[in-house]
Amino acid sequence: MIFSSGYILLALSAVAAAQDVSLRTVKRVFDEALVPGNLSMTFDPKVLLEVTFPQTTGRPITLHAGIHLPRNATAGPPTFSVVSPAGNGPFVVAAVDLDAPTPQTRTSAQIRHFLGGNFVRELRDPLLLANNTPALTEFHQPTPPAGSDPHRYVFLLFEQPKAFNTQTLVTPATSIVQFNISQFAGAVGLGQPIGGTFMLVGPDPPASV
Ligand SMILES: *[C@@H]1O[C@H](CO)[C@@H](O)[C@H](O)[C@H]1NC(C)=O
Ligand SMILES: *[C@@H]1O[C@H](CO)[C@@H](O)[C@H](O)[C@H]1NC(C)=O
Ligand SMILES: *[C@@H]1O[C@H](CO)[C@@H](O)[C@H](O)[C@H]1NC(C)=O
Repeated sequence: MIFSSGYILLALSAVAAAQDVSLRTVKRVFDEALVPGNLSMTFDPKVLLEVTFPQTTGRPITLHAGIHLPRNATAGPPTFSVVSPAGNGPFVVAAVDLDAPTPQTRTSAQIRHFLGGNFVRELRDPLLLANNTPALTEFHQPTPPAGSDPHRYVFLLFEQPKAFNTQTLVTPATSIVQFNISQFAGAVGLGQPIGGTFMLVGPDPPASV
């Protein structure tokens, strides 16, 4: 009995280490890292957003909120999944760096690392999201400057408003620097995010001599 419940606990913690499994935990970790305040948004997730980075060798890495990844594991582009019965989409996914150029001096934040709409559930894998339109901002790998502390890279999922594809506030030509996701969300009617997660990524380690 004791053995088997210990086994279950171990199995659960292995899952928890790999990806987000609890909305309450995701919200708590966002709050502890002061992410909602820096986003100027309410973060009260209704669904789990899974963000998965393919790796050149080994298994893909699925984020859990607050995971610290080496920069070379974040080349991407990531894939997105939604764990919940809620809706088929379409959804908008956004990713921003809150800490550019450094967490102490966030003068160029937010940097927009991804913005794409028209994500719908895949037929062959209903958790996976797919879009068949180009993103407004294709994925940019994190590039925190040498010497910086790790940055918070936040991924957010929104329900897509009807007129989203006619907005012109952000196009592929728009600078990715000094973006404000809260202002953008307000202007185009995205509302508050329904899901999200984030990772911490620092600069590459100095080359060894
Ligand atoms: C934004 O994040 C920074 C760094 O974590 C923190 O010092 C600051 O209090 C946050 N601001 C808000 C409004 O939450
Ligand atoms: C990242 O670099 C480390 C060594 O610094 C190496 O062990 C690892 O395999 C690299 N990962 C990728 C995805 O290239
Ligand atoms: C971003 O926009 C919100 C309004 O939605 C505003 O409250 C906030 O101050 C803005 N943040 C920055 C850094 O300008």
